[in-house]
Amino acid sequence: MCEKCKGNYYITTPIYYPSAKLHIGHAYCTVATDTMARFKRLQGYDVMFLTGTDEHGQKIEDKAKEAGVTPQQFVDNIVTGEKGVLDLWKLMNISYDRFIRTTDDYHVSAIQKIFKKMYENGDIYKGKYTGKYCKPCESFWTESQLVDGKCPDCGREVQDAEEEAYFFRLSKYADRVQDLLENTDFLEPRSRVSEMVNNFIKPGLEDLCVSRTSFTWGVPVDFDPGHVVYVWIDALFNYMTALGFENDKYQDLDKFWPADVHFIGKEIVRFHSIIWPAMLMSLNLPLPKKVYGHGWLLLDGGKMSKSKGNVVDPYVLSQRFGVDALRFFLLRSFPFGSDGNFSNELLINTINVDLANDLGNLVSRTVAMAQKYFGEHLPAEQLADEEKDAELIAMVSGLRDVYEAQMEKYAFQNALAEVFKVISRANKYIDENAPWVLAKSEENKPRLARVLYNLLETVRICGGLLSPFMPDTAAEIGKRLGGAAMDWDSLKVFGTLAADVATVAGNPLFPRIDLEKELAALEELHKASAEPQEDPLPEPLPEITFDQFEKVEMTVVKVLACEKVKKSDKLLKFTLDDGTKEPRQILSGIAKYYQPEELVGKTLVAVTNLAPRKMMGQMSCGMLLSAERGDKLNLVMLSDNIPAGSRLV
Ligand code: ME8
Ligand code: MG
Repeated sequence: MCEKCKGNYYITTPIYYPSAKLHIGHAYCTVATDTMARFKRLQGYDVMFLTGTDEHGQKIEDKAKEAGVTPQQFVDNIVTGEKGVLDLWKLMNISYDRFIRTTDDYHVSAIQKIFKKMYENGDIYKGKYTGKYCKPCESFWTESQLVDGKCPDCGREVQDAEEEAYFFRLSKYADRVQDLLENTDFLEPRSRVSEMVNNFIKPGLEDLCVSRTSFTWGVPVDFDPGHVVYVWIDALFNYMTALGFENDKYQDLDKFWPADVHFIGKEIVRFHSIIWPAMLMSLNLPLPKKVYGHGWLLLDGGKMSKSKGNVVDPYVLSQRFGVDALRFFLLRSFPFGSDGNFSNELLINTINVDLANDLGNLVSRTVAMAQKYFGEHLPAEQLADEEKDAELIAMVSGLRDVYEAQMEKYAFQNALAEVFKVISRANKYIDENAPWVLAKSEENKPRLARVLYNLLETVRICGGLLSPFMPDTAAEIGKRLGGAAMDWDSLKVFGTLAADVATVAGNPLFPRIDLEKELAALEELHKASAEPQEDPLPEPLPEITFDQFEKVEMTVVKVLACEKVKKSDKLLKFTLDDGTKEPRQILSGIAKYYQPEELVGKTLVAVTNLAPRKMMGQMSCGMLLSAERGDKLNLVMLSDNIPAGSRLV
């Protein structure tokens, strides 16, 4: 620990799957972690901020195959390629100290050693696995864990799987883990504790399958060829290998382990709060001090994915709104522990209200007035007014402490709310003191100078406290206040600025955005980018007997005439030759898909023993067969050489 430092602080993000380009939901956690890391540095801690990528597993192997490249080439492209993970974190101003890739040699060999240690201490043993596997999540589940037969994490189909495999004695640690969760504040928010205990521990923790033989893209179990280490074991230990655990690349384990906090999304709380501590217990290692499971950013109430297009593309959003505005929005608009609904409207309104209006105006007006009334420097001769100044000064002087208390709880939204309360108060202070009135008489100049000084001090302290959230904006604010101090100690002391502070004018920090216009522009972009969504498969129907099937009479028919049904934009009226002498009339709701004239003469299939029914005042005797999916519809058509009246069997 360095002499001046308050202590060491180790914080991590999850390591991301480079299976597709990242979206704004991924940036959410990383921005939060970055903000926390910057806050801790501001406080004076020696910080280690780790992030990285989780590059093994079947999903990556499959995607690489699809793309026709090796898995390594595939992940390299997404991690280091253009607009890849590294580019994105640079763009978002993510101040990580270390970046780990689980394909790094030092990590791979460390994982082999770790696996072997647990094998040797008896906590990993060989057995046979039968169960359900969710490929996208790389998760095995027991029957009882499935929700409606589907993956409890993502709701997708699971597959039967059986293989010879190694198991970790998770069951052995059930009591200790339950105690850890229930009787310490290891896991936060506390609301996630009962979910873990009730859904996973109480029903009985089963031993965990920790090796695979069905694919090869993973860390090989070095004492049993053909087995690769389960990707979650490989992934979780990144938090320690990146400090030098079981490798010589780094020597930071003593300094930074145990971690102060792992920030993670709520769907991976199970891995971090049950499996991770159990494995550490098995190796007699200190546990991380805290795991914090944040909520999801939702889009239209559902989970986000890159296939939703530009609306969730952090490149597009930062280009249009600026990186700081985007970072700010993510932490200002949603409580960190809960889900939040992302929308462009909310984003734009937040920028307009908080940044353009409240903060931007305060900075612009204050600096502009200082320059207009006094030129570059404020005069040192100033006149305080106890009664008029007390409330603002008290709020600003107390701000650092209330902000700090919220930040220590990871309550980013509340910390920002405290800052913006003060910003609003300062804007009101301008109106109360009406500097433009004071400026009219020479005799009021000392009072005017003091009013502006108080405002500049407010701007300095708010700017400094916003710096973990908006580093560039804070730096710009510092510049406008003549390079004012923004270190932690000075943010507690109202009156730090020199009385004759020099100000520097500049453009508005956050230009106001025209909501309607911007929404329209984004909508255009979205249309141009969104990949078509695949329509869900229809629900399967219950089984029927052959007898039941045989009762449906399906007949080849020729279209004699076809026209639109008046007053209906759905129905077409068909006159059909069904092989009998009598023409048959059928109405079909397909006007959206076909022009009547193009169907005349076509050979179609109709169910001809369906009870007749009336539609729009006309009889329909049967039903034409067609296939339907999403917004597509195709009539079943046969070639013309099969005569009308033939039966389908
Ligand atoms: O889970 N809102 O990686 P990942 C908020 N490799 N957070 C979101 C989000 C959204 N819409 N979408 C994703 C993994 N995330 C593992 C981690 S750690 C040892 C291994 C978050 O790329 C998600 O909750 O699927 C998770 O915390 C992180 O992005 C990485 O997700
Ligand atoms: Mg995930």
